[in-house]
Amino acid sequence: MPKPRLIIDCDPGHDDAIALILAHRHAEVTGITTVSGNAPLDATTANALMVTALLGADTPVHRGAAKPLVGEPAHAAAVHGESGLGGVARIAHQRRAASDDAVGFLLDAADEALWVVAVGPLTNLALALERDPAWGRRLAGISIMGGSTDIGNVTRVAEFNIFADPEAAARVFDCGARLTMCGLNLTRQLRSDDALAERLRRTDSPLAQFAAQSFDDLHDRLEGLTGVREAALHDPCAVLAITHPELMETHPQAVSVELNGDFTRGMTVVDRRPRPPGGNAARPGADVPNVNVAHSIDAQAAMAVVAKALGVENDA
Ligand code: BDR
Ligand code: CA
Repeated sequence: MPKPRLIIDCDPGHDDAIALILAHRHAEVTGITTVSGNAPLDATTANALMVTALLGADTPVHRGAAKPLVGEPAHAAAVHGESGLGGVARIAHQRRAASDDAVGFLLDAADEALWVVAVGPLTNLALALERDPAWGRRLAGISIMGGSTDIGNVTRVAEFNIFADPEAAARVFDCGARLTMCGLNLTRQLRSDDALAERLRRTDSPLAQFAAQSFDDLHDRLEGLTGVREAALHDPCAVLAITHPELMETHPQAVSVELNGDFTRGMTVVDRRPRPPGGNAARPGADVPNVNVAHSIDAQAAMAVVAKALGVENDA
């Protein structure tokens, strides 16, 4: 089986970094586009360059949007640190961004075999759609880490990547592309813990040491925030949806992004009503599914894939 070809749009971010490593192991990564999100754009771009240097990869990194379509940037320093990769030793390297034009790169690269894996706020993708409304339909599809079918992580109902740029997310969810949504309902099923960090620490490779430091920092911060020394591997799920789709169960459902509610701005409103046999024809006026929503993942098998990409066997 040839490896899937993909671009990763990201805001590294600890789990973005793990997603980048996983994607370079199991896909042909033709480019990385960066966006403001977990940290400001300069930091997320620097982190993407550093992770590719760690991998020895010459994948081009294109800088993207420094702020959302509307309002001011939101960051997630409490989870990822001010730099986006808090607690991780910086690695010296010579890599530089290939351009400041992530949107132009996304537009030019589109073809029917190319996937876009979007694991940050969806600003770059929305700007591509602004310039070419058919852009999403010229791709194999878009795999999104974002949203939730149930509870949020910034507000009661909004997940960070959607909350950080709801107008962009709404544009992407409505663009007519083949979409997969790995929301919090799914990503919380795939979790790192101190045992994984310890196995990585005992593995003699720069990649494993980087990952051990990353998980240690995440677990320290999340213990302070949630009381539990575990972290959901959000962004790797959106890569696995393309590279290992057999590990996930998805259902086509109608999903809209709420832009207005006082309590619900940034919520992904998922039509969870049972669909009658025959679909919409049997229920005129029903909302039309626009997204393959991921609901469950074989977490044990998925964690073995992630651990192996980081340099250890899961049962080591
Ligand atoms: C998402 O928000 C970011 O903090 C993570 O990198 C992930 O993409 C989870 O809500
Ligand atoms: Ca991210």
